[in-house]
Amino acid sequence: MKPVFDYRRMSFYQIWIRSFADGNGDGIGDLYGVYDKLEYIHSLGVDGIWFSPIYPSPNADYGYDISDYRNIHPDYGTLEQFRKVLDRAHQMGLKVLLDLVINHTSDEHPWFLESCKGGSPEENPYSDYYIWRDPLFKGEDKLPPNNWYSQFEGLAWEYNEQRGQYYLHVFAKKQPDLNMDNPRVREEVKGIMRFWLEMGVDGFREDVITFISKNMALPNGNPFLPAINGLPFYNNGPNLLDYLQEFRDVAQEYGALQVGEAPFTTTASALRYTTGKHKVLDMMIQFDHMMADCFLTEYVHHRFSLRKLKRAFTKWQNALGKKGWNALYLENHDHPRVISRYGSHKFWKESGKMLAAAYLFQKGTPFIYQGQELGMTNIRLDSIDQYEDVASKHAYHTFFKKEPVSRRLLRIYVSSRDSARTPMQWSRGPYAGFSGVRPWFHVNPNYLRINAESEEKDPDSILHFYRKCLQLRKNSDVLLWGDYHEYFPKSKQLFMYGRRLEGRDEQILVLCSFSRKAIPYRLPKGLDESSAELLLCNYPEKTPHQRGMLRPYETVLLRFIQKSS
Ligand code: GLC
Ligand code: CA
Repeated sequence: MKPVFDYRRMSFYQIWIRSFADGNGDGIGDLYGVYDKLEYIHSLGVDGIWFSPIYPSPNADYGYDISDYRNIHPDYGTLEQFRKVLDRAHQMGLKVLLDLVINHTSDEHPWFLESCKGGSPEENPYSDYYIWRDPLFKGEDKLPPNNWYSQFEGLAWEYNEQRGQYYLHVFAKKQPDLNMDNPRVREEVKGIMRFWLEMGVDGFREDVITFISKNMALPNGNPFLPAINGLPFYNNGPNLLDYLQEFRDVAQEYGALQVGEAPFTTTASALRYTTGKHKVLDMMIQFDHMMADCFLTEYVHHRFSLRKLKRAFTKWQNALGKKGWNALYLENHDHPRVISRYGSHKFWKESGKMLAAAYLFQKGTPFIYQGQELGMTNIRLDSIDQYEDVASKHAYHTFFKKEPVSRRLLRIYVSSRDSARTPMQWSRGPYAGFSGVRPWFHVNPNYLRINAESEEKDPDSILHFYRKCLQLRKNSDVLLWGDYHEYFPKSKQLFMYGRRLEGRDEQILVLCSFSRKAIPYRLPKGLDESSAELLLCNYPEKTPHQRGMLRPYETVLLRFIQKSS
C-alpha cells in the first residue's frame, strides 16, 4: 500500500477539453491544445489537472457517456498524445487526474450492445452488466418497472425492443446504469483503474460515485417529487461502502488520489466515506454552496442569498474542518459561471476577484475551472436550438411551459451547464484564439474584454489575482492548516472569515463584500486593524483600502499578529 501524495497542500485546474484549446484546427479542443497550454496552467500556480472525460463517447452528455474506457476520443487525440501530455505535466510537477465515470456507460458501449441480446449469464456474460427489468402491463400497455424519474430526461426507464425489457438510466437515455452488484462489472472497473494508473495517472475524480449501488427491490419513489424520487434508493445504496473499498484497494496500490463527486451528499455521508477506518475516498465534491440562487436545481432560479451561501460554506468548513478535508470549488462544467450567479457584471473585475478570495482561503483543496481564472461569464443565446446540453434542453421543453419564451430562455441563460462550456477565451484574435476555424460551440462575444492575453498584460487582472491567491495559500501554514471561523453570519452583504492555527498568535481575516454599494464594517472583538498587515486587496494599489469601509465587492486579506480570543 502506497500513501496518497499530499493533495491537501495542492490546488487543481479542471479541463473540459472540448472547449479548452484546439491544437489541430478543427474547431474542437484537444490534447494537442492542452499540450501547448501546459505552461500556462503551470504558471497559475496549481499543482495538478483534472480532466473531465477524454474517452471515446457519442457525446450525448459530452463525454460522460463513455463507449470505450481505455482509449482517447478521436476528436481529442490518441493514447500516444495523452502520454505526451502526461509526461510533460509530470516533468512540470503537475499531477494528472482522470474522470472515472462508472455509474453508467454509453448505450453505444460494446457491453451494452451485447447486453441487449439478453440470454443467461452463462451464454452471454454481458447479459447482467446493466439493470434490466420486465415491463409491467396495464392491459396491453407496457409500463416501466417503477416510477423513478431520471435526472436528465423524463422517466428513468427506457424500453429496449431487442431485449423486450426496460433498462435503468438515472441520467440520460443514452447513459444506461451499470449493475455494480455483478462482480464482473466491478472487475471491469478495477481493470480500467489499473490501465490508467499503470500509465502513470495520479488519481481519479469519480463521477456520481454515491449512486453506484442500488436498492435492487427498486421500490417506487414519491410521485410528487419528479427528477429525484428514486434518489433514496440509489444514493448511498446498500453495498456502496463495500464497492468503494474494492476500488480503494486498487487505488492504494498506486498511491492514487480519489475525489468522489456526490450530488445531494450530506456532511455526514462525506465524513463516512472520507474519514476513519472505512475511508474509501480522499475528498468529496458536494453541491450545497451551488444552491444559493436556486431551489432543488439551478433551473429553478431564485434571488441570490448571501446568507444561504455562507451557511453552506460554514456548514462544510465546520463539519469537515477538523476530521475530514474539503474539496473547494465555485465553478465546474456542471454549473453556470459564478460571476453571473453570485457576483456582478457591472463590478465584473471586483466581484470576480472577491469570489476567488471567498473560497480559495477556506480550508481545503481548491479546484479552479478553465476560464474561471479569467472571469468568464454566462453566454446569452437567442434560441434553445443553439444549446447543446441534454439536461438544459430537456428542462426547457418540460418545465415552465406556460411562461413566455423570453422568460424560459432567461432560465436557461442563468442555469445552463452550457454557460460554462463556451470556448476558452485566450486572446482578442478570431474565435478568441481558441481555434483558427469556427469552434464547435458559440464563443462568448465578451472575449474582446475577457481573455487571457489581455489579462496577462494587466497586473490588476482577475488572472493575476488568482495567481496571488494561490501563492499566498501555498506559503502560509495558517491558510493551509488553520481553523476556520465565520464572523457576523447574519450579515446579508458581508462574508467575513478567519483562519487561525492553534498555538500561533497569527490570524488571517478574509473580508468579502457582496454589495454593489460601499458598506461599513467592524472587526471581531480584540482585533485592531491598525496593527494588521494588508496581504491582499482586489482594488488597484493606487486606490488603497480604507479602514472601516468596503467598496463595492471589495475583498481584503488582513494578517494579525496578536493574541486574540
Ligand atoms: C456528473 C457530471 C455531469 C454528468 C453526470 C452524469 O454530475 O459532472 O457532467 O452529466 O455526472 O454522468
Ligand atoms: Ca481539435
